[in-house]
Amino acid sequence: MNRLICTLLMISSIILGSCAQNKNVSDMDKENNKALVVYYSETGTTEAIAKKISQATGADLYRIEPEQPYSAADLDWQDDNSRSTKEMNDRTARPAIKNGKVNLDSINTVYLGYPIWWDQAPRVVNTFIETNDLSGKRIITFCTSGETSIDGSVRQLKADYPALDFVKGKRLNGAPINEIEKWISGR
Ligand SMILES: Cc1cc2nc3c(=O)[nH]c(=O)nc-3n(C[C@H](O)[C@H](O)[C@H](O)COP(=O)(O)O)c2cc1C
Repeated sequence: MNRLICTLLMISSIILGSCAQNKNVSDMDKENNKALVVYYSETGTTEAIAKKISQATGADLYRIEPEQPYSAADLDWQDDNSRSTKEMNDRTARPAIKNGKVNLDSINTVYLGYPIWWDQAPRVVNTFIETNDLSGKRIITFCTSGETSIDGSVRQLKADYPALDFVKGKRLNGAPINEIEKWISGR
């Protein structure tokens, strides 16, 4: 009888142990941390990554939408007079956002994603940061770009908002879900 009880205990501890090991990134994030994936994307590249981060963490998605949408001409980086060029040349430009303030009360971690525009986060991302109270939250940045790394944009965000906790993330163009899960686990 004692041997039977011992065997049953061993089997159940093996099952429980393997369940604990199978906890995925999503479970861990839900238990320890309430996260939100905030992103800005014009042509869908950053959005695709934001969706994968949401899938990997179980966090909700929030898209920053400019009040005045950008036309193709607005996005023409080769035109010195395009809206995006003018905004990026003006450090004080703050294009209005459509969706206003977000309820971040229960959020500890914000994944903040954007396309690189002229080595920086687009100014509409500054509008989001200044519209919402991000103090005390861990802000994990990610980006997509033609080739530029995330470094310059995060350096500038840290300089502009020294009281906020920006964590330098990665340029994640086309990253598959397993790479994203690995990146999140290492945070
Ligand atoms: C106005 C503008 C400026 C850009 N500046 C850069 C840049 O400095 N470096 C770079 O590698 N890519 C640059 N790009 C390319 C975008 O970062 C890239 O296409 C990005 O993945 C687009 O993301 P989205 O599809 O989420 O909008 C720029 C694109 C635009 C529209």
